[in-house]
Amino acid sequence: MPSALKSLPPAIIALLLQVAAFTAVLFVVRLFQFQLAPIVFVLLCGLLAATLSHLVKQARWWLYIQLAFLPSMLLVYSLDIPPTLFLVAFVIMLVVYWSAFRTQVPLYLSSNKVWQALETQLPANQSFTFIDLGSGLGGVLTHLAKTHPHGHYHGVEYAPLPFVWSWLRIKLGKHKNCTVQWGSMWDSDLSQYDVVFAYLSPVPMERLWHKARAEMQTESVFISNTFAVPDHPPQSTLTVEDLHTSTLYIWKM
Ligand SMILES: C[S@@+](CC[C@H](N)C(=O)[O-])C[C@H]1O[C@@H](n2cnc3c(N)ncnc32)[C@H](O)[C@@H]1O
Repeated sequence: MPSALKSLPPAIIALLLQVAAFTAVLFVVRLFQFQLAPIVFVLLCGLLAATLSHLVKQARWWLYIQLAFLPSMLLVYSLDIPPTLFLVAFVIMLVVYWSAFRTQVPLYLSSNKVWQALETQLPANQSFTFIDLGSGLGGVLTHLAKTHPHGHYHGVEYAPLPFVWSWLRIKLGKHKNCTVQWGSMWDSDLSQYDVVFAYLSPVPMERLWHKARAEMQTESVFISNTFAVPDHPPQSTLTVEDLHTSTLYIWKM
């Protein structure tokens, strides 16, 4: 991939390539005065955008998205749906996913079986502190706060709706040993926690590892659900018999 593009999020690269493909096809159509049906025009744009995505080595699923993007827009446009619906859908997506297009960490939830597996990694009788980085809807926190009430649980969440949801869940469930904060995990001080839990995506793992190494105290525990850290094998792993056969990667600092 050209170095100018490398620093951009994949969604922005895809959008730039769509614009480039649209401009190129429009230019050729105008130059040679072709009379193309709208569906042929958008299919050509999609084909060119997918080819460009392939050339800059975007992940395979982007090729399908690029191919289908303008034809889908044309189809939806022909359905004459009121524009307000698109605004509502956009706002819902925005408050749920926020800047996932940039962080590349969308909202999906750990299974109940992962919550139970996490219980086995917590100190049995003494007080401890736990943080969920990207705490989503607060399920991990409220579950552990209930089963291990001698711990203190904190979550940090970037996306507004999951944050409000988890805040309400904590307040309504009267979990006194649980807090959640709206903000970025990159601003959290990990030295405050005995157990640091993350369920993110492959993208931030390398950076998160360096942050954990720099900040976490000796003997504290870093647990990642599903996503390993490249070149840093964990001390132990725990396979969970849930729908995805999740793996917990566990490092003692
Ligand atoms: C895969 S979900 C995990 C939710 C929850 N921890 C669980 O295990 O069920 C990841 C969450 O991290 C949040 N997130 C992504 N980047 C973040 C960041 N830099 N700071 C805080 N939260 C972030 C997303 O909004 C999303 O809700």
